[in-house]
Amino acid sequence: MKHVITRKEDLNAADYLIDVVAPEVAKRFVPGNFCVLITVPNGERIPMSIQKVEDDKITLYIKRLGKTSRELDNWNVGDALHAVIGPLGTPPPIKKYGNVVFLSDLVCGHAENYAMCKELGKYEMNHITSVQSFPTAADVYPDGELCDTVCDKFILATEDGSRGVKGHYLDVMKEMLEAGEVDQVFAGGGIPPLETLSILTAKYNVPVYTTVRQIMVDATGMCGSCRVFIDGEQKLACIDGPMFDGHKVDWPSAISRLGMFKAKEAEALGCFNHKLNGGK
Ligand SMILES: Cc1cc2nc3c(=O)[nH]c(=O)nc-3n(C[C@H](O)[C@H](O)[C@H](O)COP(=O)(O)OP(=O)(O)OC[C@H]3O[C@@H](n4cnc5c(N)ncnc54)[C@H](O)[C@@H]3O)c2cc1C
Ligand code: FES
Repeated sequence: MKHVITRKEDLNAADYLIDVVAPEVAKRFVPGNFCVLITVPNGERIPMSIQKVEDDKITLYIKRLGKTSRELDNWNVGDALHAVIGPLGTPPPIKKYGNVVFLSDLVCGHAENYAMCKELGKYEMNHITSVQSFPTAADVYPDGELCDTVCDKFILATEDGSRGVKGHYLDVMKEMLEAGEVDQVFAGGGIPPLETLSILTAKYNVPVYTTVRQIMVDATGMCGSCRVFIDGEQKLACIDGPMFDGHKVDWPSAISRLGMFKAKEAEALGCFNHKLNGGK
C-alpha cells in the first residue's frame, strides 16, 4: 500500500496539513482514535490525531516541531510515507450528552475538536459548541479548516484579542460554566491548560474528557512510555486513552513525563539541521 500525500497546505506559520492515503485507518476511524506515521523505513513513529476522513484518505494537522515533523514538511504531493498505522486508542463514548463544549488551543486539539464535534453533532439531542483559541490573529487557521462548519455555536478566541473573543479557551469556559450552560466538556491541545481546566470544571461539577498526550514509543502498549495515572491506577495513553476523565488524571506526573526525551530530541533536530545545511 502506497501512503501517498494527496494534499499539503499551510495552516499558519507553524502548522501544516496533509491528506494521505490510508484506507485501513479511514475505514475504521472513530473520533478519539489517533494514528502513527512512519515516514521512512526504521524511522521514528510519530502519533498524530486525525481531523477527518474522506474516502480512503485521512487529514492530519502537523506542527513543525522537531526532526520528523520538519523533515516531512519538505515532502510534497505525490511522495509516499512508509507506513500509517491505526486507528489506535480507545475513544470516549460518542452519545447524547446535551450541551457539549469542545475546547482546543493547539494543532492536535484543533484536529480532535473538528472530528469530535462532527461526530457528536449526529445526535440530535446534543447542542455542540466549539471553542478554538490561538495566540494571535496571524495564527488562526484559514476558512474551511476551523470547526465553525461542524458545530451549532462557534467561538474563536485569540489571546491578544486581535481576532474574535479576547483570551484563552479557559476564559471562555469560565463564563460558560458560570452561566450554567454546560453538561459535558471535551478538550485537547496543550497539556498545562488541561490541568487548569480539570480543576475549573470540577469546581462546577461538570465532567470533562481531556486528551492526555504522552510520549509514545511503540503506541501499541508494549513499552510503558505513555503511562498515566488515573485515580491512582496506571493506564496506557496509547491503549486506554488518550482521552481520560480530566478529574481523575494525575496531572503533575503527566506533565513531568513530557520532558523525558528533550536531550535526544534536540540532538536529532541538530543532526537534521546540520544535514540540511550541507553537513555529512
Ligand atoms: C495521541 C497523540 C496525538 C498527537 N497528535 C498530534 C497532531 O495532531 N499534530 C501534531 O503536530 N502533533 C501531534 N502529536 C505530537 C506529535 O506526535 C509530536 O509533535 C511529534 O512526534 C514530534 O516529532 P518530531 O520528531 O517532529 O519532534 P521531536 O523533537 O521528536 O519532539 C518534539 C516534541 O513533540 C512531542 N513528541 C515527540 N515525540 C513524541 C512521541 N513519540 N509521542 C508523543 N509526543 C511526542 C514532545 O512533546 C516533544 O518534546 C500527538 C501526540 C500524541 C501522543
Ligand atoms: S507508547 Fe508504548 S505503551 Fe504506549
